[in-house]
Amino acid sequence: MIDALPATGVPAAQVLAELRELRTADLPTHGGRLFAYVYDPAVPGLDGLAQAAHAISAHVNGLDPTAFPSLLAMENALVGAAARLLGGGAETVGTVTGGGTESLLLAVKAARDARPEVDRPRLVIPSTAHAAFAKAAHYLRVELDVVPVRADLRADPAAMAAAIGPDTVLVAASAPSYAHGVVDPIVEIAAAAASRSVRCHVDACFGGWVLPYLRRLGADLPAFDLSVPGVTSISIDLHKYAYAPKGVSVLLHRDQSLRLPQYFAYADWPGYTMINPGVSSTRSGGPIAAALAVLRHLGDAGYLDLARKTREAVVTLAAAVEATGGVRLYAPTETTVVCLAAEGETDLFVLADELAARGWHTQPQLAYPGMEPTIHLTVTAAVRSAATDFAAELAAAVAATRARGPIEVPQDLLAALTPEAITPELIASLAEGMGLAVGGPPGPMAAVNTLLNAAPPRLREALLTGFLSLLQHP
Ligand SMILES: Cc1ncc(COP(=O)(O)O)c(C=O)c1O
Repeated sequence: MIDALPATGVPAAQVLAELRELRTADLPTHGGRLFAYVYDPAVPGLDGLAQAAHAISAHVNGLDPTAFPSLLAMENALVGAAARLLGGGAETVGTVTGGGTESLLLAVKAARDARPEVDRPRLVIPSTAHAAFAKAAHYLRVELDVVPVRADLRADPAAMAAAIGPDTVLVAASAPSYAHGVVDPIVEIAAAAASRSVRCHVDACFGGWVLPYLRRLGADLPAFDLSVPGVTSISIDLHKYAYAPKGVSVLLHRDQSLRLPQYFAYADWPGYTMINPGVSSTRSGGPIAAALAVLRHLGDAGYLDLARKTREAVVTLAAAVEATGGVRLYAPTETTVVCLAAEGETDLFVLADELAARGWHTQPQLAYPGMEPTIHLTVTAAVRSAATDFAAELAAAVAATRARGPIEVPQDLLAALTPEAITPELIASLAEGMGLAVGGPPGPMAAVNTLLNAAPPRLREALLTGFLSLLQHP
């Protein structure tokens, strides 16, 4: 284990060398071969610019914008840019948050606290909505009404309208969804919410920064932003397709009155009066300055170009999937996601391992009622130069997968596992038995994914929580 508090200090050069050495165990954040977690525009010099900007504002504290007007100015600029991109008007206001989950949490909080008369507030979402809504509902004690999506993987506006009741404080949908990259019918959903005087949030955290550019490039995508009547708020992550370093998202509200219940204020203690728009109080200015630098450096024309490159990569990858026996596209490739399923003898989870062994790091998605397991590829601009190699490697990975044959679910093990039976000792022995390296780089995951795929959601949660707890030690 690293000694984070050595008896005497370590020279700066050595500390940096150690950090670089640690990073060698990670998946590659650049190069267009990691299809989740990271967003790489492959723009020379952009990382250096973001790092320099981060350093300038790292010690500025967002706790009090009157003490640090630089941060206020930067945040207002980011909100203004997001509003301009997403159909905002003169009344639009927003908040810079630390990420998509925080933006969604705050959208739910604002909706809940705007309706104090509702004892048991409820939130209506399609089944493809991001898990952060479930987290928000859990943290804020809001009941979740999950409405199955249609066969085309999009939210069902009629079913969502039918799910709205007197206690519904918010209806939400995605533009686009993370798992499949498809845009929900926001116009119809927002109209249904508005007709019941209920707020409607659009989760554009994932693709919000790229959708407007795809539309400008001619993509036939439906309206999804604040220009749609009935949309009351929208979230957009700058650390995704705006290509800013991690830690920046924006939550926009149609007007100030809608945003006010989002704030937390407390003056009833002997210290400073705390007024926070978001979850954290002390916040570093670093990520915000870095995001501003990235936006200003790329500019509107830069983002249009990156969207074009991303689409070219999507088209190349999708063609590779269509040309390869044993796999097929699972969802329409209308935005920046390629989602594929296995066919015939191909074991999807073995395929993910075979791709990883060839340096293509994808994200397996487990089965969900009415949906088979899939492999998810988040495609960014950096993928374009790597994409042409993908077809041959996918074919080779499928061939190797077929040669290995499917992984069998250990039925006796599955039968013995229940959420209640999970103990730290059981998790440790399972991890060892399945060859999971604790603290090492990720190895083959097919056996683990097969087990998780066969497990019900509560068991998946218990197993993965136990494993994370095992990793996070002490
Ligand atoms: C659609 C959508 N919403 C919300 C989130 C949560 O964002 P974050 O991981 O920044 O908290 C994500 C993350 O992938 C997302 O895709």
